[in-house]
Amino acid sequence: MLIDTHTHINSDKFNDNYKEIIDRALNQDVKKMLVVGFDKSTNKRAIELAEKHDFLYATVGFHPTIASDIKEKDFEMLRQQLAHEKVVGVGECGLDFYWHKDNKETQITLFKQHIALSKEFNKPLIIHMRDASEATYNTLSEYEALSGVMHCYGGSVEMASMFLDLGLYISLGGPVTFKNAKTPKEVAKIIPLDKLLIETDSPYLSPHPFRGKTNEPARVKLIAEKIAELKDMSFKNISKHTTANATKLFNL
Ligand code: NI
Repeated sequence: MLIDTHTHINSDKFNDNYKEIIDRALNQDVKKMLVVGFDKSTNKRAIELAEKHDFLYATVGFHPTIASDIKEKDFEMLRQQLAHEKVVGVGECGLDFYWHKDNKETQITLFKQHIALSKEFNKPLIIHMRDASEATYNTLSEYEALSGVMHCYGGSVEMASMFLDLGLYISLGGPVTFKNAKTPKEVAKIIPLDKLLIETDSPYLSPHPFRGKTNEPARVKLIAEKIAELKDMSFKNISKHTTANATKLFNL
């Protein structure tokens, strides 16, 4: 059994065919999926889906790329949603200095609000980091006893060790399968089995040989297979550990 710890089947793109997509995943032994919200409407939709299907779980948060649009009152809704029993994580949240360099302080403030909520509700963080390794690390390292995952980790090997030292899990996605992606493959080799998670980030980042196509949770299997090859371990071993890790971290 596999768990896709990060999918956006709550995005509009999947409104018409999400049922087919989850059936295809179940047929590939992807037996649980975390539907990750990133703004008001996808947070709401994630919960709707999780209420409808046992094997779907929701997470809610505000993505750093919309940091400047978030008002204090938006957190009232988020707090209500975080109390829901099928909401198993806070995020995605984090820092993105690739798309937005002009509001770094606003992003950091928003990220800290999510970290505080993670502690208050005792639910792990789902952390997005793009072109912001240092700021993400510096922000997180102000806290103790963090719980969470670096989602679709795209940083360096050195920084991966530093995030592991903060007690965080590291989740790998499609990029480990890309032919020209050297760093994600090196990162896959060093993540201890008890800190590794897998995800699709669908509809984005479809693994090889579907790169550039719309991604879906069934393809998390291709990611697990590639990691098994890179770590020189059996697929069964990767599947067993990543499933146990996701179950533990998100209390599924
Ligand atoms: Ni995402």
